[in-house]
Amino acid sequence: MRVLVIGSGAREHALCAALLRDPGVTAVGCAPGNAGIAATCQVMPLTDPVAVAKDFGADLVVVGPEVPLVAGVADDVRAAGIACFGPTAAAARIEGSKAFAKDIMAAAGVPTAAARVCTTPEETAAALEEFGAPYVVKDDGLAAGKGVVVTSDREAALAHAASCERVIVEEFLDGPEMSLFVVTDGEAALPLLPAHDFKRIGDGDTGPNTGGMGAYAPLPWLPADTVPSVMETVVRPTLAAMAARETPFAGLLYVGLALTSAGPRVVEFNCRFGDPETQSVLALLETPLGALLHAAATGALGSYESLRWRDGAAVTVVMASAGYPASSRSGDVITGADADGVLHAGTARDDDGALVTAGGRVLSVVGLGSDVAAARVAAYQTVEAISFPGAQFRTDIAAAR
Ligand code: AMP
Ligand code: GLY
Repeated sequence: MRVLVIGSGAREHALCAALLRDPGVTAVGCAPGNAGIAATCQVMPLTDPVAVAKDFGADLVVVGPEVPLVAGVADDVRAAGIACFGPTAAAARIEGSKAFAKDIMAAAGVPTAAARVCTTPEETAAALEEFGAPYVVKDDGLAAGKGVVVTSDREAALAHAASCERVIVEEFLDGPEMSLFVVTDGEAALPLLPAHDFKRIGDGDTGPNTGGMGAYAPLPWLPADTVPSVMETVVRPTLAAMAARETPFAGLLYVGLALTSAGPRVVEFNCRFGDPETQSVLALLETPLGALLHAAATGALGSYESLRWRDGAAVTVVMASAGYPASSRSGDVITGADADGVLHAGTARDDDGALVTAGGRVLSVVGLGSDVAAARVAAYQTVEAISFPGAQFRTDIAAAR
């Protein structure tokens, strides 16, 4: 089976690496890819996704990011007769519009934060008043993980709302967060290992939100019944509600949860693998990934009972370029990145062939170990051996909680 991955981040590098480990996969291509992916896979410019898939002779296309999914790339690929892992544009709205996601959750009876959709300063002010501080204000549309402001500063909450066309103001949810990825063909659904990601730029969860600065999996502190319970109370009703609207969701349903004292509450749905959790989760997957995603793409997931995982844990530490998340710096020379577990995101080769920064999040460094503490040591050992001017990384990813 020849598999084409669409995207260019560390998540796509992790997907490519896991696909290459599947004995049933004969070739992995990636468009547009990055300098790290190019070392083991054929990378191609991402012109027209269907044309690229045909040129590569893809038997399966895996779409990484949300933007092409929301734009309907998976529909186009399937219309060309090629199996595609990724939801339709109609189903991807579960991430593309937070108002749509809230609507589905209401229809499915899924526990989530109470919320109000606001389009005027008056509506926003009333909703802030209703829920009280800390205030949670979310851009309704796609915002690369940076559209959410959680603050006790009412002026900052109002200012964020004013900078967006339409916002969701919602009740603040307290408690640890968990990301649960579910592979589904629209009916059958299999959970991957639960993971936790670190969204803020600074140690101790300080500073602005980013696309994600680190992650670990599995969660040793999680009660054993949490994942089965989320499958029953959140995932199955959501898939049923999507199917009832004739927009069945097939692909990767990302369930972001807050584990509150009143039980798990959905913070968000995404329509694709999460970054950087995927780098940790896929590092532990033993079930061949190509066959799994092909089964989900073709309605054949019912033949799987469960997934196989290696023992132990995986910790991912993201290294970002100077200025991130407000900006990013390109062209800084990277040394020491030629090690096991280093996945590329914003990297490129300069005219002399040197590896340089080319984006905000530059590398994801994945460490494996017999437990989270050991995996953390392994990840940071690799991070310490890598350098580039202005490199930023958190030092507290997966530290004991
Ligand atoms: P989202 O884009 O909806 O995932 O939000 C990004 C991050 O903002 C989440 O992962 C949480 O850390 C935080 N967040 C979002 N909604 C809430 C909420 N209702 N209560 C507390 N924190 C939230
Ligand atoms: N890890 C957060 C996200 O992928 O949206």
